[in-house]
Amino acid sequence: MSQRFLFPRWTNKFLALLGFLILAGGAYASVLFLGVTSPETLNTGYRPLQPIPFSHALHAGELKMDCKYCHGSVDKAAHSEIPATQTCINCHSPKTITPTGDVAPPKLSAIHSGSPKLKDLHESWRTGESVDWVRIHRLPDFVYFNHSAHVNRGVSCVSCHGRVDQMEVVHQDKNQSMAWCLDCHRNPEPHLRPVDQVTNLAWSLPAAEQLELGKKLRAENNINPQVNCAVCHR
Ligand code: HEC
Ligand code: HEC
Ligand code: HEC
Ligand code: HEC
Ligand code: HEC
Repeated sequence: MSQRFLFPRWTNKFLALLGFLILAGGAYASVLFLGVTSPETLNTGYRPLQPIPFSHALHAGELKMDCKYCHGSVDKAAHSEIPATQTCINCHSPKTITPTGDVAPPKLSAIHSGSPKLKDLHESWRTGESVDWVRIHRLPDFVYFNHSAHVNRGVSCVSCHGRVDQMEVVHQDKNQSMAWCLDCHRNPEPHLRPVDQVTNLAWSLPAAEQLELGKKLRAENNINPQVNCAVCHR
């Protein structure tokens, strides 16, 4: 890098080179930027900025809210929905100002009701338009995935998403490649737990005990993840 500053500063040659480097650098940076922020990317660590600084570490960690309070469809459907504004308003209803200018007593719980961090939430509540949450995990369209098929068989969120209950901002924890899916489908025992512990991300056993339990649960419940192409490419 320092090499180019050895060029005499006054030459046109240098200015041309500098201009080129700035342009090329900018292009390089924007390619990187697009690559990293495209929701299509499978890269581990993808961590977009959300419109509201919502913290899982606070809500799911400290406040111990169950994942299903907000992601209610996770054990019922293929997709795990992002909560509607109403779910947040249960605790974060805005201040209501009456026509006479008084602050009306909130009908619902109003934690941090005047917080600027909740501006977009209250705006969404007022307009009825949902919050523009940025999607983080996304498989290509030609792959079929189903949450309930995993969650109801004792595969925890933590196996695929990491310790979301400790994340201030959610990032993608695993590279969701085909090899990743197949690794677990061929060898699920380290990932099987009692179904009632699926949303308890802190739950864990020493490796040997986990393997014992995994084998037992697999046999008892006849768990046989498939590896033939048509299961995921239908
Ligand atoms: C109070 C509601 C709430 C609770 C409780 C909650 N979440 Fe979320 N979750 C959200 C919201 C809102 C988003 C979208 C914004 C974001 O990514 O932070 C989200 C996003 C996510 C995403 C990323 C989705 C994507 O775009 O790919 C994952 C994974 C996730 N949550 C897992 C969990 C897990 C696991 C738990 C339980 C430990 C949990 N959540 C508990 C509200 C909640
Ligand atoms: C069960 C009640 C409950 C629900 C539901 C809930 N929250 Fe919260 N939230 C809290 C509490 C309690 C705090 C404050 C903790 C503190 O300040 O000590 C908080 C704090 C926050 C803050 C920080 C506000 C500030 O000014 O510091 C944001 C942002 C937030 N919540 C967003 C959301 C969003 C978005 C949702 C819906 C996806 C949601 N919350 C759902 C209870 C809830
Ligand atoms: C076997 C792995 C696996 C498990 C277990 C799992 N997820 Fe996911 N999750 C994924 C994949 C893969 C995607 C991307 C799905 C897609 O693009 O169709 C995803 C996406 C999501 C999303 C974004 C919305 C969606 O459905 O695309 C949320 C929210 C989410 N997961 C929450 C959870 C919660 C909460 C749990 C536990 C109760 C959980 N997940 C368990 C693999 C998993
Ligand atoms: C951590 C372990 C694990 C990972 C990772 C995993 N799976 Fe699975 N998968 C399972 C288990 C366990 C089952 C349940 C098998 C059974 O019920 O016999 C399953 C079942 C399925 C099914 C069958 C659903 C049905 O309708 O019968 C599909 C489809 C599937 N997985 C797709 C995927 C895809 C796609 C990925 C990667 C994006 C993936 N899985 C990653 C463990 C895993
Ligand atoms: C357990 C689920 C699962 C099974 C079984 C599976 N795939 Fe895939 N496959 C995936 C996922 C997830 C991707 C997307 C990975 C990515 O985008 O990097 C994928 C991607 C692909 C691609 C696109 C190229 C690539 O590598 O990204 C091809 C081709 C493919 N699979 C063929 C097959 C064939 C052939 C079989 C049977 C031998 C098969 N798959 C079985 C989950 C599966």
